[in-house]
Amino acid sequence: MARQDPHSYTDLDQGRLTDVALFLRVDFARKKLHGRARLILDGPTTGTLDLDARDLAIERICTVDGDAIEYTLADADPVLGSKLSVDLPAATAAFDVFYATSPDSSALQWLEPSQTAGGVHPYLFSQCQAIHARALVPVQDSPRARVRLEAEIEVEKPLRVVMAASMDGEKPGSDDSLSTWLFHMPQPIPPYLIALAVGNIQAQEVGPRSAVYAEPEVLEKAAWEFGGVEDMITTAEGLFGPYPWERFDLLCMPPSFPYGGMENPRLTFLTPTLLAGDRSQVNVVAHELAHSWTGNLVTNADMEHFWLNEGFTVYAERRILEALEGAEFVALHAAIGRAGLAGAVKRFGQDSPHTRLRTELTGVDPDEVFSLVPYEKGFLLVRLIHETVGAERFDAFLKTYIERFSFQSITTEQWEVFMEEQLPGVLKQVDAEAWLRSPGVPANEPTFASDRKAAVDVLAGAWGQGQRPTKESVSSWSPEEWLLYLQGVPKEIDLSDCKSLDEAFGLTAQGNSEILVQWLGIGVASGYEPAIDRACAFLEEMGRMKYLKPLYTVLAANPTTKERARALFTKVRSTYHPIAQMVVETVLK
Ligand code: BES
Ligand code: ZN
Repeated sequence: MARQDPHSYTDLDQGRLTDVALFLRVDFARKKLHGRARLILDGPTTGTLDLDARDLAIERICTVDGDAIEYTLADADPVLGSKLSVDLPAATAAFDVFYATSPDSSALQWLEPSQTAGGVHPYLFSQCQAIHARALVPVQDSPRARVRLEAEIEVEKPLRVVMAASMDGEKPGSDDSLSTWLFHMPQPIPPYLIALAVGNIQAQEVGPRSAVYAEPEVLEKAAWEFGGVEDMITTAEGLFGPYPWERFDLLCMPPSFPYGGMENPRLTFLTPTLLAGDRSQVNVVAHELAHSWTGNLVTNADMEHFWLNEGFTVYAERRILEALEGAEFVALHAAIGRAGLAGAVKRFGQDSPHTRLRTELTGVDPDEVFSLVPYEKGFLLVRLIHETVGAERFDAFLKTYIERFSFQSITTEQWEVFMEEQLPGVLKQVDAEAWLRSPGVPANEPTFASDRKAAVDVLAGAWGQGQRPTKESVSSWSPEEWLLYLQGVPKEIDLSDCKSLDEAFGLTAQGNSEILVQWLGIGVASGYEPAIDRACAFLEEMGRMKYLKPLYTVLAANPTTKERARALFTKVRSTYHPIAQMVVETVLK
């Protein structure tokens, strides 16, 4: 069978890792993790075993008895990294890799104290999805190769290590200044879900199986913002089956975290840009929670099937929100998502293969083609099937689907076979072939009726006729309606309109980052100075790629602001995550 994943050297015919045990020391001075990974195979294995590695310094590879094992580390491919071929002696069951990560590891961001809320201690975090686990530990870095995990991570006191795993406490380190933190993850997970963070981190319980972790300076705010999490978990359990990971803890990250959220099992990572003070962005929590079933139990086989993770999860997120907030609320979220999808399709081009759900990514870096397409087009397909077969049958299907493929990693083609078995004829009925393998959005997309959405659409649509929101007309608007409105008005407006909108509604001072960024896009494109200043300040405050991309793009669209964006990027570049740096570079090129 040989290699199956276009983004990995993994060949499961050679053997399969089942367990990874990490014994690592965190060295903030050298920006390195170093130590040993014990890799355990599913049975006695002989001969070549290809692993993935990226920028890892391999010191030696040994049998568990300490005898040297031969290996070759190939030159790096720009997308895949290096193939690490280990020449296993007869009937090897386990072996040790002694190694260190690189200060430039694409999986890690090392923060100076000044980049944290406290300003005193350094911070480290990992982000392995999509294909960066190999820059943290040499493994078969493909979602098809699930592993259990154990870890002992040593760090200087008083810093604390947290991992997406059962957190088993600490023991004394190898000297008085050090402490060793213990973890294990008994359930097999795809390597992209391996995650750790180190810093001045404290915890506050917010529910029977949830704590919020954060630096003490933001802990209280974060604990309040995410305090509704238990309701979400029980709601999700009703829809998808019992929560299978014991704990659902939340880690509020420093502002340079490049994503909104990351569904690391048992410990979701969240951007602090969600801390609006009004719980208005907790859909991201619902989303990462939903991945506990769609993604972490049922996993995409590789990034060509990413829509199975994200499309199903957006659908599941909105089912949770529908149960908690009602159909109208979800209709607004679906409309916001639909506008985002339209933007993505427009940027790629109607006919671009990147607008398919089932993609072909040989030679393509998944970070470079990341977009809303698998999320929102995927959501529309799942919702269309739901509506076609009816809620009752679809709910039953969902539970069966999750049970059937728990702890497995599947392709779109396997999913299609299962669909045909469970809901015969429905794929044809909805023309799933067009959804999966043709570009653009098919005409039979589901729609979401909402009076509030309709009212916002009317007002935004009448912009050209001179209609503007009044204090009265927007007094009952939710953040979603604001967002939808700002998505609906022209991308560039008169300066006088910028001023009056801002004076009336304080948009430049918005605390909801989604509304803020949507507004700043308009303000910057319109040459409105306060928006340009705020955009530049915001780009210094955080490194979430969802915001870096549009803000740098709109700044780069005009020669004077482009210069300013370039100067700004030169100044703050080193504070961004390595992947975010790459993304901004592409924008400013
Ligand atoms: N798993 C993703 C984040 C991700 C995707 C990281 C691909 C690396 C590669 C996570 O679940 C996600 O989708 N986060 C979204 C939030 C969501 C509400 C759409 C985000 O970061 O904005
Ligand atoms: Zn997701």
